[in-house]
Amino acid sequence: MSEIVKPEKKPIIFSGIQPSGTLTLGNYIGALKNFSVLQDDYDCIYCIVDMHAITVRQNPADLRRRCMELAAIYIASGLDPKKSLIYCQSHVTGHAELAWILNCFTYMGELNRMTQYKDKAAKHADNINAGLFTYPVLMAADILLFQTNMVPVGVDQKQHLELCRDVAQRFNGVYGDVFTIPEPYIAKVGSKIMSLQEPTRKMSKSDPEDTFVALLDDPDTIRRKIKRAVTDSDGEIRFDPENKPGVSNLLSIMSALGAGSIDSLVAELAGQGYGTLKTRTADCVIAALEPLQTEYKKLIADKGYLQGILDENAKTANYLANKTLRKVQKKVGFATRG
Ligand code: TYM
Repeated sequence: MSEIVKPEKKPIIFSGIQPSGTLTLGNYIGALKNFSVLQDDYDCIYCIVDMHAITVRQNPADLRRRCMELAAIYIASGLDPKKSLIYCQSHVTGHAELAWILNCFTYMGELNRMTQYKDKAAKHADNINAGLFTYPVLMAADILLFQTNMVPVGVDQKQHLELCRDVAQRFNGVYGDVFTIPEPYIAKVGSKIMSLQEPTRKMSKSDPEDTFVALLDDPDTIRRKIKRAVTDSDGEIRFDPENKPGVSNLLSIMSALGAGSIDSLVAELAGQGYGTLKTRTADCVIAALEPLQTEYKKLIADKGYLQGILDENAKTANYLANKTLRKVQKKVGFATRG
């Protein structure tokens, strides 16, 4: 009699992107581009984190539209909705419920140390709300709800992930092994793409237009923005992020997009001017984004299809989330459900 072989459970990947503005080349290189690569070897869950987005005031109609656009971008980037679970955070109540419980296991001092909170509070001084402060706890809930093994993110999320691990370990220390402790997945090249105008700062969708390449920028716009990117005046193409942040950023962008290792690019471009470096970078970016943009245009025209995916996946995500949530609720002593 042949033995029935149980399929091996794949490790779980979870990540999210905020639908809070135009996605940038930084989001693409640091996160999105890695998502589809992982979907064959892992059980992947990719969330549209609209609840995180409202920590900064949003126009409701724009936010709703951007959630749909992000669903289309996820799929256009190569995510197969049959392999990866793509859903909206606000459709799964477990995120908020687990976040509340984890709030009670997170110290004010820990949240006070979060650099992203400090940056955002400085940028939005008129609206330093409690959600902005406890944002990392909601992010920990996102991850822990699904017993996640690995979280693909850019370097700017590393501190949040460390907090998530600390909170999970604290909880497990009290109640036993309830949560899987997640590991960060941060690519060696491209995990921090810098602003084109201020290359010592991270490229960010909340900065002015000319500081970033948007995922849906047309080729002429991409060329113009990269042509105007700030470099330096010594004219040498060399990788030295400290002293030559602008040039190093362009080299990182090219390398992360598959143009070769940084060393090989430096060797290839030695003795050439910054004009060539910028033309080559723009070529790489345009070539990398073109298939995504073509696919995106088709998908966004079919809102019914996208809504169907979000509706269906919300059910699956709620089911998975509730498995962890019920366990956690029982552990902390919430009243028995009938
Ligand atoms: P968000 O929406 O700001 O960014 C989405 C992803 O893009 C990465 N990223 C970058 N990578 C390289 N260079 C850059 N300049 C750059 N800018 C952004 C981010 O690191 C991120 O991976 N808090 C998260 C969203 C989130 C999440 C989660 C992520 C909510 N819950 C759970 C992982 C797991 C955020 O604001 O990302």
